[in-house]
Amino acid sequence: MSLLELDDVKVHFPVRKGILFDRTVGHVYAVDGISLTVEAGQTYGLVGESGCGKTTLGRAVLRLVDITSGGVVFDGTDLARLPGEEMRGFRRRLQMVFQDPLGSLNPRQNIESILSEGMAAHGIGRDQGERREKIKDILAKVGLPANALSRYPHEFSGGQRQRIGIARALVLEPDVIICDEPVSALDVSVQAQVINLLEELQRQLGLTYLVIAHDLAVVRHISDVIGVMYLGGLVEEAPSDALYESPRHPYTKALMSAVPVPDPEVEDARERILLAGDLPSPANPPSGCRFHTRCPWAQERCASERPVLTDLGEGHKVACHFAREIEEGTVEQTRSTGIDAVVATKAVVRKDAEVAQEAGVPSAAAESGADASGDTGRPGAAQDADAAGRPATGPAAAEADAGGADEAPAVPAQSTAESADAAERSPGTG
Ligand SMILES: Nc1ncnc2c1ncn2[C@@H]1O[C@H](COP(=O)(O)OP(=O)(O)OP(=O)(O)O)[C@@H](O)[C@H]1O
Ligand code: SF4
Ligand SMILES: [Mg+2]
Repeated sequence: MSLLELDDVKVHFPVRKGILFDRTVGHVYAVDGISLTVEAGQTYGLVGESGCGKTTLGRAVLRLVDITSGGVVFDGTDLARLPGEEMRGFRRRLQMVFQDPLGSLNPRQNIESILSEGMAAHGIGRDQGERREKIKDILAKVGLPANALSRYPHEFSGGQRQRIGIARALVLEPDVIICDEPVSALDVSVQAQVINLLEELQRQLGLTYLVIAHDLAVVRHISDVIGVMYLGGLVEEAPSDALYESPRHPYTKALMSAVPVPDPEVEDARERILLAGDLPSPANPPSGCRFHTRCPWAQERCASERPVLTDLGEGHKVACHFAREIEEGTVEQTRSTGIDAVVATKAVVRKDAEVAQEAGVPSAAAESGADASGDTGRPGAAQDADAAGRPATGPAAAEADAGGADEAPAVPAQSTAESADAAERSPGTG
């Protein structure tokens, strides 16, 4: 039995309208039928564009959002059906580390207070003295000095604050840690240190991770298995190396083709897949295969029939009606990719700008799409879609209250842009 099993999990947020008569006018299909398993002691990496539902899925596992349907079986117990008070015991065993280290730490509490709060709530340590000793031990494990105890979150660099976030999870002796974009607010040089720390802790403590990221590079080395999400669903899942060496879903192929290769010759010769259009809204997802509005190989059947995630051998699962045919080259492309698409997109942007100029209004495409359009002939569309996508919206606020579910009181989420600049001053690990 796997430690964590998700069975067709759906989280649909109702969209309400009206002041006098509050009524539901639709739903945001944030998570729309996800099944996956995470083995004890392993790391499952979950990647996908901004807004595809990664954070919502992580929060659903911890029951921080209402699960519309489906099962979340942890160590043999279905958490989705557990009464609130019974869920409390499981909360300690499943912890979350958040993207925004500063926003998820209460600025008015010192580190000892932040870390001991959850311990006291879960009855860990007989008194504060015992808790303090345990906290010192964990601080050493995450590479922070013991004098950090009496200091406040703002006194630390971005990387150190993320270590505090990890320590806050560890003092509760969890089995599973859900790391939601654990390094995306950090400097690239600091990112590797935090990822190394997570790996080292996993080795020492036998932890199980679900690591969420929009950046494939972040999850590659830490993950045993990687799942790729698109609009609330998994489109591909495979052992980490297999996914990188031979991505089989058109969306994964596009994501991978946007990751630059250090060798300039390989880089120039590489085939890129440029995705048409933007990520559709999860409030109005396309019929059939959710990816059919952007897929270079979309066929008629794709618009009406949703493909099921199917194992094509050795645990490489793909949700595409034509995965085999695409590989064999026996199905025709219906949309252009690569350089053709760059030229076509440029023409659309130019046209849009002309029309806007004539009408005397600012051009949306010129504002939002021009950079990503390949004006420079740069074909990294899939990556651009990430970078140009929504800034972290829900999650920042979500982080603050998620912390509150167990420990830290909700504090206003703050931008961590500045923390990315902060140099890592932490001694020790890395
Ligand atoms: N509480 C909520 N109510 C309504 N819609 C929500 C809520 N939380 C999230 N959403 C919507 O659900 C969708 C998925 O959001 P989610 O935060 O899970 O995406 P994500 O993949 O984590 O994105 P990012 O990479 O930007 O963090 C988005 O369209 C978001 O606006
Ligand atoms: S099912 Fe059709 S639209 Fe979806 S990924 Fe496969 S080929 Fe593309
Ligand atoms: Mg998120």
